Order: sequence, then structure tokens, then C-alpha cells
Amino acid sequence: MEERMKELVRILNEANYNYYVLDNPTITDQEFDKYLRELISLEEKYPELKQADSPTSRVGGEVIDGFNKVYHEKPMLSLSNVFNEDEIIEFDERLKKEHIKPEYVCELKIDGLSVSLLYEKGVLKRAATRGDGVVGEDITHNAKTIKDIPLRINEPIDIEVRGEIYMTKKALLELNEKRIDRGVEPLANARNAAAGSVRQLDSKVAASRNLSCFIYHLPNPEDYGIKTHFEALEFMKKLGFVVNDNNRKVEGVKGILSFIEEWTKKRPDLPYDIDGVVIKLNDLADQLRAGYTAKYPKWATAYKFPAELVLTRLKEIKMTVGRTGQVTPNAILEPVLLMGSVISKATLHNEEYIRLKDIREGDIVAIRKAGDVIPRVEKVILDRRTGKEKVFEIPKTCPICGSDLVKKDAAYYCENPMCDKRTIEKLIHFASRDAMNIEGFGDSIVEDFYNMGYLKSIPDFYNLGKYKEELMELEGFGLKSIENLLNALEESKKNSLEKLLFGLGIRHVGAKGAKVLAKHFRTMDNLSIATFDDLVNIPDVGDIIARSIVDYFSDDENKEIIKKLKEYGLNMEYLGTEVANINISGKTFVLTGSLEQLTRDEAEEMIENAGGKTSGSVSKKTYAVIVGKDPGSKYTKALELGIPIWTEEEFLEKIK
Ligand code: IVH
Repeated sequence: MEERMKELVRILNEANYNYYVLDNPTITDQEFDKYLRELISLEEKYPELKQADSPTSRVGGEVIDGFNKVYHEKPMLSLSNVFNEDEIIEFDERLKKEHIKPEYVCELKIDGLSVSLLYEKGVLKRAATRGDGVVGEDITHNAKTIKDIPLRINEPIDIEVRGEIYMTKKALLELNEKRIDRGVEPLANARNAAAGSVRQLDSKVAASRNLSCFIYHLPNPEDYGIKTHFEALEFMKKLGFVVNDNNRKVEGVKGILSFIEEWTKKRPDLPYDIDGVVIKLNDLADQLRAGYTAKYPKWATAYKFPAELVLTRLKEIKMTVGRTGQVTPNAILEPVLLMGSVISKATLHNEEYIRLKDIREGDIVAIRKAGDVIPRVEKVILDRRTGKEKVFEIPKTCPICGSDLVKKDAAYYCENPMCDKRTIEKLIHFASRDAMNIEGFGDSIVEDFYNMGYLKSIPDFYNLGKYKEELMELEGFGLKSIENLLNALEESKKNSLEKLLFGLGIRHVGAKGAKVLAKHFRTMDNLSIATFDDLVNIPDVGDIIARSIVDYFSDDENKEIIKKLKEYGLNMEYLGTEVANINISGKTFVLTGSLEQLTRDEAEEMIENAGGKTSGSVSKKTYAVIVGKDPGSKYTKALELGIPIWTEEEFLEKIK
């Protein structure tokens, strides 16, 4: 039986390869289905005989409990950016100074998320996200559902390749149509959709998302006797990976510019989103000579397309109320596609902005979006005015609760602490990712719970368990989903102090400020009795923040909130993840390059005081390499061996 199962796996994988990679189908859909059904039924009968590369993994169904951490033998680096011709010339000049021949490979910069794929004896063993470059997450169960990722390659070798998981424009449209039918918000763009899909515990979701994957990097080319990047691409293609056909070898700046010009024009016709062009030195020996900075290879860079500008009609201006009570004007737009996202709203900042740009309801406006930034109305197309446009007057009262607005600097505020929208926004903020990160409490659930009376103030989150039975009866909920919410709440109680501090929404205290405060004061109690002077003496804390904190902790209502949260068992201490958790006792460090804040002797002394050792050369036993300016060969060696690389700042932070 095993023989037949192996044969079916081979037939199906080959058919997939011919279909998806070579674009040359060899069997009919009916035949494919017939073989697949036969294989499924055999695997059901003899699960112990299921082959590691069985294409039935493609349909998903594997559910994991959580994401395992994965250590990247060689760090997954990011790329430096260039934005114009001058910067490309500089990039090329820098390399020429090192006597490097300017032969490049230009590639499309796919807008997705990078992935590392590990094969053992030709079989896919592990797929991992980039994470922070050194430690990523194991997403093998989801990667197996992506048809472009071979489960078995054409040679029985051990190899790691890297590339980009992405979603085609068509797949995103189809997904969003389905979501709209189900009454769920459409996803903003293909990159977020792809990233969200691989971050699912249940691989059925990824399987249904129709993801794709291009491979563009071979971390260990020397193992296969490969001399140039272009050869590496061809080698990986031969192994069965999908390599982008538009990659080109080009000469010098001229070649790069003409590739960019070509793809700036052709970009809208591509079936997937790209956000630039990646330029890589072709010769691998030259790549080594060019070297690395702590974050980027110096032998490659990414040209980013300029932010796109599109025209659309501004239908009306609507005021929204934020958690601080700030009332902001927003442009409601006729939906347009901009950089792969459907845009129907843009910020207008404040009254001044609207007046300066003379933005009126009904205008045709140009909107721009750069990276992840919220789109904004750049300008009005005055030629398109018909005379019917309406000048907008900022209302004098809160659009939600009707109380009078108060003007402070350029902005208007609703000062009613009971204003529904303010409270809802505060609660949403508390649960949000950068704050308490309570999974499952998205905007609409928080709003619904607020409207139903379950959630009126922050501590109510931790009292929801009391209403478990009632909540389970609500439409759209069941035992499982309520339990998930309650578990997420329970989990959030363990957060380090800075998450809670940020979540409380103290004015002017952002995520960064919260961290500074948590690190300094260590406990909520210490912070709550800090004086204005204590606070302003801390670097990074100014008058405004200090005043706001003192005010916050002298308010009786806030004192009550903190008291209740304590009673519910929330952690009120700084857990200092990256600082306290690092025990360097007995670990060996190597220093390279010139440090800026410390002398070498000082750095060595710090390591020794903390129980660590320093060494003059990098080996597999090295715990981390601390890299200063202009590092030497120890740095390249560390990259080769996959030893973690710390900048001076990281070192200081970790060893403090
Ligand atoms: S090469 C050391 N090639 O862009 C080589 N990256 O902004 C590192 N990306 O993290 C990457 N298309 O996720 C490379 N053809 C391409 C790419 C590409 C998209 C992504 C990748 C990387 C990011 C850097």
C-alpha cells in the first residue's frame, strides 16, 4: 500500500509543479481529483503511512496551539532604501570604490512577507517568518498549503531558500468579495492579507486564501558551488521553486535605471503588488567584499516607488471623536484603489488644514499614501470645481454627545468624560495590540459590549467572566469564542507594566513613553507617587508628559480604576523582558568595529562584571558579536556562522 501512496504523491506533486511552476498542465482536473481522492482515502485508512510530502497537506486542517520560535542560522536581513537616481548613483559609486564590477541583478520588490524554507533530503521540513531577523516563527503548517512552495524539490538535498509570500490582486479581490458577502470588513491590502493568513493557527484559513510565493535568495550558495546571484536564481528554479521571470542581469546605473523605468510603467499590469525594485550585486565574491552593516547587506538595496497620488471625489467631511476627546475632520471619499488598497477615508487633520487648502465637500481631490501611513488629502483640483461644492464649517458641538467643543491650539475637543464615543475609543485602545493586546477584542466587539452595558470602563473587561452564560447566548458567540475572550483577558493580566500604562490612555504617554516610565519606576505604586520633579528628571520625559502623569494619578476616578485592576490580579510591575531576561554569565562575546559610547575596555569590563567573557575571534561558541562602526571580518564571519549580532545600543540596553 505504501508504494501506491508514494506513487500517488509523486503523480500529484508532479502535476502541481507542471501546473503552477511551469504553467504547463499535464493531466486534467478530473484526473487530478481522482488521484487526490484515492490518496485521501488511503491516508485515512493508513494514517501512519502518510508521506511527508503528501499534497493533501495543501488543503489545510492542521491546527497548532501557538507559534514556535525559530532561530535563523543566518540572520534574515532587511534592505536599505534608495528613492531617486542620485541615491542609486551613490550606491553604485560606493561599490565601485571597492573595485567591484558593477554587474547587478534587478528584481521586482514583491509586497508581501519574507519566508525562510528549509528542506532536508529534498523534503520541506520547516517554514519560518523573518521575525526580528534572528528569531522568527514556525509557519510550516500554513506554508504547506501554498501551491508555489514545493513539498519536495527536484534534488534530495539539504537546502535553505528565502523568498516572499504574497497574495495576488485577484486573490485579494475574491477574498474581499467573500468577506463583504459575510458582512465582514474587507482587508485593506494584499500585504496585510498575506501576513494575516500565515499568522493563523488553523491552516484551513491559509489554504482558503490562495497565497503565492516567489523565491529570491539562497543563503548558502557556496554549498552548491554557485558563483553569482543569477546562477543561484536559476539553480533554485531548477529545484522546483517559483522564481520571478522578470529578474534581469543589468550593467551599471544605466541598466538599473532602465529596469526601473520599464517596471514603473508596467507595474499596474502585474497580477501582484510590487513596491519597488531590488538591486543586487551579481557576483557573490563581490557581495562578500561589499559586506554588511548591522541591518543590511551593502551589496543590495531597494529602490522604492514614489508614493502614488490618485484623484477622487470628496463626498463629505465627517467629524470623529477619539479617546482623548479630540474631534478630527475626516474626508469621506468615493472609494478608489491606491497602492493596492481601497481607500474611502482620509484624514484632514484640523480646521486650519481644511482652510489653508480650501477643501470643500464635493471637491475632486488628490490623495496620497506613503507606506502604512493613513492617506491624506494633498490638494484640491481647482479646475474641476463646478460651483456646487460646499464650504465646511467645523461644528460647535460634539457629533456624538452634543456637548460644546473646546478649542486648544489647532484642535477641537469634546471634554465630556461620559461621551460614548470617547469611552468606546478608550476601551478599544486598552485592548489594542500595542497596549494590552487582548486578542479577540476588536473595535466592533468592544463597541457592542459597551452598547449592551457589559463594558463601561476599563476594569469591566476583567469582570466579563461573570456574564459568561449571558454572553454565550448572544448572536455570533458561542462557548468557544467566549472562552477564547476570557482566556485572552486572563493572559493579558500578566503583561508587563508598560503595556498597562500605555493602555490606560494617560494623555501624552505613548507606547515608547510608557516603556521609559515602566523601566524607571518598575512598579505602578512607585510611578503613582512620583512628583513632577521626579518625572522631568528622567531623560525623554518633558514638562507636558510629567504634568499629565501627575494629574492622572491625582484624579480619584483614575485611582479607583487602578485599585480595581489590582484587585482583578493584573500585574503592576515592569517585567523587563529584554533586559532582565538576559543572563550572560559564562557567555562569550566578540567586539568588532569602533564603538561610539564606550571604549573597548569599558565594554569588556561590563561584560566581565556581568559574568561573561570576551574573545578575539568568532566561532560557533560565540554568544553574540557586538558591532560598532566599520566592523571587520569578524562581522562577516558572524553572519556566515549565524551568530546573533548586537549593535552597541542593543548591547547597552541588554546588559544594563
Ligand atoms: S532580498 C539579503 N529580494 O523586501 C537579501 N527582498 O525591504 C534580503 N522583498 O525583507 C532580501 N522582494 O521581504 C529581496 N526580490 C526581492 C524582494 C525582497 C521583496 C522584501 C523582503 C525584504 C524586504 C526589504
